[in-house]
Amino acid sequence: MARFTLPRDLYHGKGAMEALKTFEGKKAIVCVGGGSMKRFGFLDKAVGYLQQAGMEVKIFDGIEPDPSVETVMRGAAAMAEFEPDWIVAIGGGSPIDAAKAMWIKYEYPDITFEEMCKVFGIPKLRQKARFCAISSTSGTATEVTAFSIITDYDKGIKYPIADFEITPDVAIVDPELAETMPKKLVAHTGMDAMTHAIEAYVSTANCAYTDPLAIFAIRMIQADLVGSYNGDMAKRDAMHDAQCLAGMAFSNALLGIVHSMAHKTGAAFADYGAHIIHGAANAMYLPKVIAFNAKDPTAKARYGVIADEMKLGGANDDEKVRLLIEYLRGMNDDLNIPHGIKFYGADSYPCEQGFVPEDVFLARLPEIAKNAIGDACTGSNPRQPSQEEMEKLLKCCYYDTEVDF
Ligand SMILES: NC(=O)c1ccc[n+]([C@@H]2O[C@H](COP(=O)([O-])OP(=O)(O)OC[C@H]3O[C@@H](n4cnc5c(N)ncnc54)[C@H](O)[C@@H]3O)[C@@H](O)[C@H]2O)c1
Ligand SMILES: [Zn+2]
Repeated sequence: MARFTLPRDLYHGKGAMEALKTFEGKKAIVCVGGGSMKRFGFLDKAVGYLQQAGMEVKIFDGIEPDPSVETVMRGAAAMAEFEPDWIVAIGGGSPIDAAKAMWIKYEYPDITFEEMCKVFGIPKLRQKARFCAISSTSGTATEVTAFSIITDYDKGIKYPIADFEITPDVAIVDPELAETMPKKLVAHTGMDAMTHAIEAYVSTANCAYTDPLAIFAIRMIQADLVGSYNGDMAKRDAMHDAQCLAGMAFSNALLGIVHSMAHKTGAAFADYGAHIIHGAANAMYLPKVIAFNAKDPTAKARYGVIADEMKLGGANDDEKVRLLIEYLRGMNDDLNIPHGIKFYGADSYPCEQGFVPEDVFLARLPEIAKNAIGDACTGSNPRQPSQEEMEKLLKCCYYDTEVDF
């Protein structure tokens, strides 16, 4: 038996935020990040609509990018004090993911972070509050997914919480919020969405319900991402829908080792000056993982279908896989994303020598590879890598060398 779960309601299109006016409840806590939602007036709008719905509103702000366990615990304490019956998270993947984890802790005050991370192990929520997510970036699709990614900075590891219990009750996909994104954010979140759709399509948990969503998302992202990056606002709006469709696919078909590797490298070099931003990590690793996974005949045929849907040409599946890899690398070039960790420099832009020195990378490689294999996303990857293979793959992602194993 398989399960397919999405939010009960999804409001989309310009002005969709107004749906908040129709919510029924007494108290809403609005969870938000560092300032962009306030600066562009979206936070005030959300608060105003909830007040029009007759609710008392409290704001929990300052949720940082790649939120920490500590932030989750602070937010849960604020919820315990205020006792909301609606949790409304507005912003990028970071504040929405943090709010999902706060929600678990609010409903179950004794639960530990370790217990939250047991895959599909969350107890029944909605005893105290329902959850609405309003996304302002076009990538994570956390407004429709069963996932939340929280970082343990002591360990330098990102942990996925995965359970349909945390699939929001209401998703609001209003493209107006995405129009204020700076270019770099468009690039990273857009390639995150492309990775979601491709990983979902080749995942071992793919099915007839997720395939059409994944394929349609891939075609839309191919058509719209680079234009959106270059300032075309109609394409920017379309990308907001495309990433959400990709999210509907991967929330139910799961992901693969591109995400396992992104989760385990993202915070691993934070002491050397920067995170490897989630979407940029995916963009760099995706072509390498496609080459690795394509050794599996079923995956190879599925990549072939993706190449066909993208109208890339190719006489057989080997050629189609090669053309797909080339196309994705071309997108990275168009979006100013480097091809390897070695070249991931200040501000995430390509450079000769990035912020992760070779000796540090090599010293940490065995541990990162072990952690990536243990990530919740590895189980649904079409090929299960050994420790040796994962280390080789990560090396290819560092040096941007060809994957031939
Ligand atoms: N839950 C899931 O299913 C899922 C899937 C993929 C990634 N993630 C996680 O989500 C996080 C990344 O989320 P993200 O990529 O959405 O970025 P983010 O939420 O970390 O935001 C990045 C920056 O962009 C700013 N910002 C957000 N929206 C903006 C807008 N419209 N205009 C101007 N600035 C804006 C924020 O203030 C922040 O400084 C990572 O922790 C990643 O691991 C979660
Ligand atoms: Zn992702």
